[in-house]
Amino acid sequence: MKVKIVFTLIQVLLGMSVLAQAEKQQTAMSTYVSALMKKMTTEEKIGQLNLPAVGFDVTGPVVSQGVDEKIRKGLVGGVFNTFTPIAVRKLQEMAVTRTRLKIPLLFGYDVIHGHRTIFPIPLGLSASWDTALIRKTAQAAAAEASADGLNWTFSPMVDIARDPRWGRVSEGAGEDPFLGAQVAKAMVRGYQGDNTYKDAHSILACVKHFALYGAAEAGRDYNTVDMSRVRMFNEYLPPYKAAIDAGVATVMSSFNEVDGVPASANRWLMTDLLRKRWGFKGFVVTDYTAINEMMAHGLGDGKEVARRAMKAPVEMDMVGELYLAHLPALVKEGKVTMTELDNACRLILEAKYKLGLFQDPYKYVSEERNEKEMMSGDKLMLAREAAIKSMVLLKNKGNILPLNAEKKIAFIGPLVKNKRDVIGSWSGAGDYKQAISVWEALEKRVTAAPIYYAKGCNLVDDTTLRNKLNPHGAMLEADSLSPEALIREAVEAAEKSDIVVVFLGEPFGMSGEAASRSEIGLLPNQKGLLVALKKTAKPIVLVLMNGRPLTLSWEDEHMDAILETWYGGTMTGPAISDVLFGDANPSGKLTMTFPRNTGQIPIYYNHKNTGRPFDAAQKYTSKYLDVSNEPLYPFGHGLGYSPFTYSGISLSSKSIQGASTITATVTVTNSGKYKGEETVQLYIKDVIGTVTRPVKELKGFQKVLLAAGESRKLSFSIGQDDLRFYNGELQLVAEPGAFKLFIGGSSEQIREASFVLQ
Ligand code: NOJ
Repeated sequence: MKVKIVFTLIQVLLGMSVLAQAEKQQTAMSTYVSALMKKMTTEEKIGQLNLPAVGFDVTGPVVSQGVDEKIRKGLVGGVFNTFTPIAVRKLQEMAVTRTRLKIPLLFGYDVIHGHRTIFPIPLGLSASWDTALIRKTAQAAAAEASADGLNWTFSPMVDIARDPRWGRVSEGAGEDPFLGAQVAKAMVRGYQGDNTYKDAHSILACVKHFALYGAAEAGRDYNTVDMSRVRMFNEYLPPYKAAIDAGVATVMSSFNEVDGVPASANRWLMTDLLRKRWGFKGFVVTDYTAINEMMAHGLGDGKEVARRAMKAPVEMDMVGELYLAHLPALVKEGKVTMTELDNACRLILEAKYKLGLFQDPYKYVSEERNEKEMMSGDKLMLAREAAIKSMVLLKNKGNILPLNAEKKIAFIGPLVKNKRDVIGSWSGAGDYKQAISVWEALEKRVTAAPIYYAKGCNLVDDTTLRNKLNPHGAMLEADSLSPEALIREAVEAAEKSDIVVVFLGEPFGMSGEAASRSEIGLLPNQKGLLVALKKTAKPIVLVLMNGRPLTLSWEDEHMDAILETWYGGTMTGPAISDVLFGDANPSGKLTMTFPRNTGQIPIYYNHKNTGRPFDAAQKYTSKYLDVSNEPLYPFGHGLGYSPFTYSGISLSSKSIQGASTITATVTVTNSGKYKGEETVQLYIKDVIGTVTRPVKELKGFQKVLLAAGESRKLSFSIGQDDLRFYNGELQLVAEPGAFKLFIGGSSEQIREASFVLQ
């Protein structure tokens, strides 16, 4: 007892000293920044809000001009798209030696799924459901980026996405708010470390795109968003909030409107919600020219939209330079107050202070670290592990996978030897030439029987599509052989073999920004190859590389196995070879529903019941005439080489009272012959609410590694906090009444129990 009291006392004292320390640091920062701001002219303060792009890579129509000169005049707060120690040193030197006040610059970049070492695309990473692994990838990305002069990444993107027509689903963690929040937290912690930026490995993260960007109507990028507050709070906002709670340093405002006002001018979003309700203390940067785009949204001329953005407020203007152009007059005319300008400037200077740039502006510029960090062995190993864990085995009829290396195998398809596409979109500073293709990996793997290769088809046959994609980095061309000859070659290779493995999917530019599709199946020429191969009657494994859920009804019917590998990054080849030959056991689970056809979209597992749920015996129920309501592959689905069986769900009590918790227990058994990892998922349904509640919601998950034949008891603890949701008044409440609880290996393969909240 005594020991316990002393221990608690020590803890309290330690807590107090940490708080006191934080307060001291806060005061020191305020004093420093106030003193600096006293010396600043209005123009210099405005300059801090300016983020021009210097470099090669643009994501919008505007490129910044005359940046050197602006830096020298103190009219730049940070630059984006510049990296490498040499380039960063050059600009930083300009800022800290040739400007009046010597204020260092921020250096931002889209480090999205790795910097030089490329990890699987975020949607793929999320399919690992392995937040520790995801955090490590962000940490490794920060280590490389920071050794390349960068101190700020525009990541994580945490937009909930339920519409796979939207190309940017590839950049997020899928459709679920609970999982999305866990991933958001992991990534912020990976990039920012413990938020003290003590060493040069941690960089500022930027959660984006605030808010609701993933809900663009019809999945068309940049399109209008409109949704109820209840939906927003319960289904779309949790991942942003999780990033804020994890201490994310910056937020990016989204392109879209929210309640009829574009995010960058939306005071409710930026002030009432983000800062007052959530307590965010950092600064907001706009998305690329988002302030300027408010003219096209119809909010007024350049001066007016700059004024509106300052009132929201958003502090930093990415590339648009409307703050630079109009704030001097707006401040003079009193339309933007000096206090508003000071607040914005202060937040940006504080971010620089926290990074330690005032002490050492070259903290992130180190040739030595650059040499050491880039694509180091440990990062490549992590990339291989991440690629393996991201893969989702969608179907495996008759356990055709793993491949038997004694058999003759034909590897067919335009992605077998491909390097350009396997690193995916937003691969930033990644060099596709350093990626290992599937073929390179296969050639290294010893097989007892011969392997064959045929390209089979062009990745894209349609010239109009090729012409849209090629100007943006795609390297799509028509083969010198005709499409018919390519297919003939493939059929010949298939006929010589015992089994056929076909690699198809999307070129990388078909997902990502400005890459919406109205049909999300395989392209017709690729499908044509599959039809021809099917006629050989050989067993076929379809290996997919793509950045979104695809409609695969035909493929599901006709292929023997389907392995979704997304874009696996630098180590794609070895990872795929590991999985195909059973050196690794796939364990990924979908984080986005795969629809049967495009007409089912939006389709997501945590939908509402409606007043007329589907009932086959009744005409007037919620359904389609031409397709079922069920998805092809549900959220949480993913097979392995060993099946897992679930038994005996039990609850420690049938009711929760006050702060008490109940424990739900199941036994999971690996009933196959391979060691494997299962992601055990917990869903809850709130049976009766003051507002309608989803048919089920993910509330927990655990990963468990089991040897062949091994069983393990797993427990989940459930308390009031897990049952809370935002009611009609947007209060976070848990409402007493009946609940259902489900545990299983996907959102559909579940066992059920019931309890009551009293
Ligand atoms: C536009 C994109 O929407 C955003 O995600 C990205 O960070 C910026 N461009 C900067 O490249």
